[in-house]
Amino acid sequence: MSSESKSSPITSAPKSFGEHRAFFGRVSGKRLHKGQKALFDSLLPRLLVELPPEGALDPKVIFGPDAQPRILEIGYGGGEHLARLASQNPDTGFVGCEVYTGGIGKLLQKIEQDELTNISLFCEDAYRLLKALPDACLDRVYLLYPDPWPKTRHNKRRFISDITLNELARVIKPHGQFCFATDIEDYANWTLAHIQRQPLFTWKISPEPRFWHKPFAGWEPTRYEQKARKEGRQHSFYFTFERTPNLGHKLSP
Ligand SMILES: C[S@@+](CC[C@H](N)C(=O)[O-])C[C@H]1O[C@@H](n2cnc3c(N)ncnc32)[C@H](O)[C@@H]1O
Repeated sequence: MSSESKSSPITSAPKSFGEHRAFFGRVSGKRLHKGQKALFDSLLPRLLVELPPEGALDPKVIFGPDAQPRILEIGYGGGEHLARLASQNPDTGFVGCEVYTGGIGKLLQKIEQDELTNISLFCEDAYRLLKALPDACLDRVYLLYPDPWPKTRHNKRRFISDITLNELARVIKPHGQFCFATDIEDYANWTLAHIQRQPLFTWKISPEPRFWHKPFAGWEPTRYEQKARKEGRQHSFYFTFERTPNLGHKLSP
């Protein structure tokens, strides 16, 4: 049996849509455990964010009517970071985007075990969700250890591009934050180069030496950070970009 049961809301690999696509990885790997499969049927449908046939998503519906602030995590992997934040901040609304069924299954287990009620899940390419959100509806977005696509010919598959940054800037409120972490120096430079050639985000710098290696407040290493350390990459890059206020939403041509 494939890792998704027949009644799972995830029925197929994400397809290319429109002119841009931001997911190129694996959708399924190891089989889901029996308990995870059951959660795909029982719990996921209640948490699933589905795109409307037309028009924008209503943030009150996907985050909950009273949840504040509103936080999105893109590519949450096994969901350790997302579940921890959700448990520590019960009044905050969270949406997690992940396409890999093994990761979704792990997070479903945590949501059930910890009885978390403030997480919704989107199980397709996060770019599709960004496109469907209304302007200035998010307080913070996390992109932690995105797939590095190290070969030069694959760099264009990286999540960070002018197109995704433009959408992130559109959906993040003025002064809201985009938090990015990577262990790959080339991806850190790639991201700074993209940020610096547009006015929509401002890099929050500090006078501390090598401040870019200082983790975000309250940080605990994610699964991919732990993997990086085991593989000898001892330093990560943690960037906080603030949505510049009083600007339109489009990148200059
Ligand atoms: C290298 S893993 C990092 C996982 C986790 N953030 C961590 O630090 O342990 C990157 C994850 O992003 C997911 N991903 C990549 N592109 C995505 C996209 N466009 N939409 C949603 N998830 C995506 C992948 O499926 C993968 O699980």
